[in-house]
Amino acid sequence: MTMQAGQSAIVTGAARGFGFAIAKALANAGVSVMLTDRDAQALETAVSELSRAGAKAAGAVLDVTSEAQWEEAVAVTIARFGGFDILINNAGIQMSQLIDDLDIDHAGQLFSINVMGTALGLKHAFRAMRPGGAAGRGGSIVNLSSVAALTNTPGVLIYSASKSAVLRMTQVAAVEAGALEYGIRVNCICPSLMKTELGNDLIEDFARLGLSDSVEMLAEHVVSRTPLGRFGGEEDVANSVLYLCSSEASFITGVALRVDGGFALT
Ligand SMILES: NC(=O)c1ccc[n+]([C@@H]2O[C@H](COP(=O)([O-])OP(=O)(O)OC[C@H]3O[C@@H](n4cnc5c(N)ncnc54)[C@H](O)[C@@H]3O)[C@@H](O)[C@H]2O)c1
Repeated sequence: MTMQAGQSAIVTGAARGFGFAIAKALANAGVSVMLTDRDAQALETAVSELSRAGAKAAGAVLDVTSEAQWEEAVAVTIARFGGFDILINNAGIQMSQLIDDLDIDHAGQLFSINVMGTALGLKHAFRAMRPGGAAGRGGSIVNLSSVAALTNTPGVLIYSASKSAVLRMTQVAAVEAGALEYGIRVNCICPSLMKTELGNDLIEDFARLGLSDSVEMLAEHVVSRTPLGRFGGEEDVANSVLYLCSSEASFITGVALRVDGGFALT
């Protein structure tokens, strides 16, 4: 995959999991990466790991629900790397609850991170990347949706709704960027359940909620329902994001790319 020379990226939720794997893949492809996360300590460790490996990487604390922190992170990225061409809206949390027990305050927090956090990312990336913006040379945005936006799974009412919102926002943003000739492509990926901290918590919650007999049985169920016959991994997600940001994807916008081994088909 070919990345344009001299590009800079912001990755949210980059201290661990998919976000860290994506930051690493972008850095290995020659992109300067601003890793951001709300967890300052974990972020520092992640940035040191990439820097020690020779990546052009830096860190900025960014809680995606804070507009002021978005402004700061974009400004710091442009000042440090001389541009802002790629945004990966990855930060997100999960929530598994039966509808009978729905905690609306918790649901609101999830929406403010998964949905409004993504919307704020789109806003500040558009402002910076559009012609005349502080970076001003267009770009590529990839949002993290989920197969939860495409399949019907009990126990994840609010999480699924948030990821459906991310998918729809991707499509509207792609069309709006086109209509205004911003030169910005907007896509999302829909990964299946994978064994990050978030994924492992979800698997345990399913057993706790009585939606599977055990953690092992749920894991077996996922694999047996997956045509490619295995769990996906962080590298599968990182490679698909890299593709969507690459020159080879220059005519692709508004897509929801499933990274799920075919899970959503079954
Ligand atoms: N793991 C899966 O099975 C799976 C599947 C499909 C989609 N996703 C999505 O992929 C994304 C990453 O998931 P993951 O599995 O790597 O999760 P993870 O919990 O392992 O990592 C998430 C990171 O985001 C950070 N974060 C959380 N809230 C934040 C906020 N308000 N502001 C900034 N940072 C914040 C956390 O500190 C953490 O470093 C999420 O949007 C998730 O919904 C995950």
